[in-house]
Order: sequence, then C-alpha cells, then structure tokens
Amino acid sequence: MIQLKQITKSFGSHRILKGIDLQVEDGQTLAIIGPSGSGKSTLLRCLNLLEKPDGGIVQIGAHRYDSSHITKEEMLEFRRATAMVFQGFNLFANQSVINNIILPLRVRKKCDKEKGREIALRLLKQVGLADKADAYPSQLSGGQQQRVAIARALALQPEVILFDEPTSALDPELVNGVLDVIRSIRSETMIKIIVTHEMSFARDAADAVIFLEDGQIIEQGSAHEVFDHPKQERTKKFLQNFQRA
Ligand SMILES: Nc1ncnc2c1ncn2[C@@H]1O[C@H](COP(=O)(O)OP(=O)(O)OP(=O)(O)O)[C@@H](O)[C@H]1O
Ligand SMILES: [Mg+2]
Repeated sequence: MIQLKQITKSFGSHRILKGIDLQVEDGQTLAIIGPSGSGKSTLLRCLNLLEKPDGGIVQIGAHRYDSSHITKEEMLEFRRATAMVFQGFNLFANQSVINNIILPLRVRKKCDKEKGREIALRLLKQVGLADKADAYPSQLSGGQQQRVAIARALALQPEVILFDEPTSALDPELVNGVLDVIRSIRSETMIKIIVTHEMSFARDAADAVIFLEDGQIIEQGSAHEVFDHPKQERTKKFLQNFQRA
C-alpha cells in the first residue's frame, strides 16, 4: 500500500505541491490527470524520492519516508521499492536491448549473468520484443524503446511502477502498442501509477483517478466517478477540453 500524508514541495518560493493526501491499495492502478504545470511529474518524482518532499510522509509498503529524518540507507531501500518509466525512455544508448535490462538487475538485484539473461528474455517476450534482444536502442522505434523501458522496470520487481506520460513522445500509431503492454501487466501486489493525457486509457485501465490542479487534488474517485460524474466544475471543464480535442 502507498500512503501519502500532507506532501508539500516548493522550488524556491514557488509552492508546487500543497499538501497531498493519498492512499493506493496493493495491485491497484492509479491515473494522475491534470493540466500542464499542475505538479503531476513532481508528485510522481516525490514517490521515488527523485525529488525530496519538503514536508509530509510517504509510505510504500514497509518503507517510510519522513521529511524530517531519513538515513542514506533508508533512502536507497525506498528507491529500490520503485521503478520509473520516463516519457523519453532513458535507455542506455551504448548497450544492447538485453543489456539494458540485465545491467540494472545485476546492480540492484545482484543477479548473476545467467539469471539476468533468463529474466530479461522472458520480459522481452512479454513485451513482444524477443527478436530485438541484441539490437541497440537507436535501431528501435520509439514504441519499441518504451516497451524495453517497461521490461527493464518490471525486471526489478518493484512494489510500485511509475509512468510519467509514457506515450506522449510517440507517434500516434505507436501509442496503443505501449498502452496495451501497460494494461497487460498483471500483478496482485504491484501498484501502477501513471501520469497520462490518454483519457480513454485512464478510464478503462485505472482503478482510481486523481485530478491535480495547482498542486492540489481537486477530485478523486474511481475512473467511473471522475470521468462520468465529476463533481467539481474544474474537473468538468478539464475533461470537456479533452472531449473536444
Ligand atoms: N526542478 C525544478 N525546479 C524548478 N521548478 C520546477 C522544477 N520541476 C518542476 N518545476 C515547476 O513546478 C511546476 C510543476 O511542474 P511539473 O513538471 O510537476 O508539472 P506537470 O503537471 O508534470 O506538467 P506537464 O503536464 O507539463 O508535464 C511547474 O511550474 C514547473 O515549472
Ligand atoms: Mg509532467
């Protein structure tokens, strides 16, 4: 389970997150939606401590981040509970596809080469790229690169997998292949959190949705509640813009 209590974050004098409270149950998919600049990426980055919240508590399973005190070791443990998939894929350009998966496994999970290879091949098969194991990232389409990045994240068996607009850098015809892979991740326990502008995906893939604006959760509920029966005017307006687009 993830629990956030009163998370705040500022950059300089600019308050970006203004007290976020949130709970996500094991195995659930949470979609974060909201306008540009509302703090979605910052919130996601606070979940894996790429950004350290200024105040509040982040609890992921047994790992707890309390902004007032945390040791380096606790911070590492905390980071290891999560894996992030970025908009721009962030693969190692000078490593083959399979090594992109094996190397983090060796570092983070202390896997030997054989075991790493076995895990990587299984995951490449799962994302439909078994035949690309020895290719280099530059030889793949954006959609394929993103599927490798997802396989790499899954290999680490994180408690939480974080996606920051995983399809927004892709040509339209490649988007669905990546969304299908995300949808197909089945786990009883792993939590998926996805920042997305793909509203129809959020509607059918997410268990819960939050609408973030100006560093605050304006609305939250099931996908059905938020998309079909939004209570707040600001949510309605935001969603209308998407329906028109
Ligand atoms: N490292 C940083 N230093 C200073 N300001 C930052 C930093 N990261 C984000 N910000 C500011 O924080 C605000 C929220 O940014 P964030 O990236 O979280 O928004 P977002 O909701 O993800 O937007 P988008 O939909 O455009 O990705 C923005 O005003 C941004 O300029
Ligand atoms: Mg963002």
